Amino acid sequence: MDNPKYYRNKLVFPVGIKEDGTTCMGVFGERSHRIIEVKDCLIQNKKCQQIAKDIFEFVKKHNISGYDEKNLTGILRHIVIRIGIKTNEIMVTLVVNESDIPNENMLIEEITKKHSEIKTIVKNLNNKNTNVIFGKENKVIYGNGYIYDYLGDKKFKISPMSFYQVNPIQTEKLYKKAVEYAELTGKETIFDLYCGIGTIGIFASDKVEKLYGIETIPDAVEDAKENAKLNGIENAEFFVGNVENELPDFISKRNIVPDVIFVDPPRKGCDRVAIETLLKIKSNRIVYISCNPATLARDLKLLEEKYELKRISICDMFPYSSHIECVTVLNLK
Ligand SMILES: C[S@@+](CC[C@H](N)C(=O)[O-])C[C@H]1O[C@@H](n2cnc3c(N)ncnc32)[C@H](O)[C@@H]1O
Repeated sequence: MDNPKYYRNKLVFPVGIKEDGTTCMGVFGERSHRIIEVKDCLIQNKKCQQIAKDIFEFVKKHNISGYDEKNLTGILRHIVIRIGIKTNEIMVTLVVNESDIPNENMLIEEITKKHSEIKTIVKNLNNKNTNVIFGKENKVIYGNGYIYDYLGDKKFKISPMSFYQVNPIQTEKLYKKAVEYAELTGKETIFDLYCGIGTIGIFASDKVEKLYGIETIPDAVEDAKENAKLNGIENAEFFVGNVENELPDFISKRNIVPDVIFVDPPRKGCDRVAIETLLKIKSNRIVYISCNPATLARDLKLLEEKYELKRISICDMFPYSSHIECVTVLNLK
């Protein structure tokens, strides 16, 4: 990455209780839930950090309690802030253990007055004893509940629960490489598996005949459908479901053999059933994008039964961390 600092468009700061009983905000120490307070995080967007600090100042001033993991008490669990770096639109999500935040309206007024880039604020209720950040219930308390960003010349709507790549500058490079590897001519039917809000497929859509996407999070699929509309794309369809459940059905009922399959699973990689289905489908090409080289290697080994690994590139998606993104292309043997 040319300028590998302050690149993250998504900040997630836990709010908790220190041993002396005071409220604290920061990041979890590695493999622990000890909160380390942060003055300046060198990889988070600066504006998002400033907003988090201002919210935290309000929290302290108005005695809004941080979440106590031992006793399962307290109000505020996490502050999550996302920015569209091309649009400068900001979404704040406050993850709470109880639905009422004291002085909520005052908080909204103060913070939006100070930071006009905040387009929306969402309250997410999570009162479970869990490591998972978000609960299931969202309440929009300011604005529309979403923001927009651009990747290349395509515009994307982003909702609080939807996955969106955290380093958009490098994402454009990654997607360009993925599309290059796919060798699209405009005549292909493509699958975008684990499609999130539809970004890869929509990025490639000018060069394809037909696009199908599958994704497990319903809100993300709603975003994907709207993103297709937003960009005037009429050759795309998106489906909610797990790839391992939907893909076999999809192939047997619809009898569609895609020319190219884009696969971009979470860190745990592809489910065994998903791999078996990919082996059965026999599309000409698979472009596998991965943020975890270990599960990528495991899955490539299985795919080698029918496909030949042609090329692999790495993308510096997470500078100053031990993580790396890979993009690979496999051709049918
Ligand atoms: C690494 S993200 C990639 C999203 C998208 N391709 C992008 O570049 O923004 C992985 C996505 O897979 C989704 N997901 C996780 N498990 C899934 C499954 N079993 N079936 C379908 N989607 C899944 C997640 O919700 C997430 O949106």
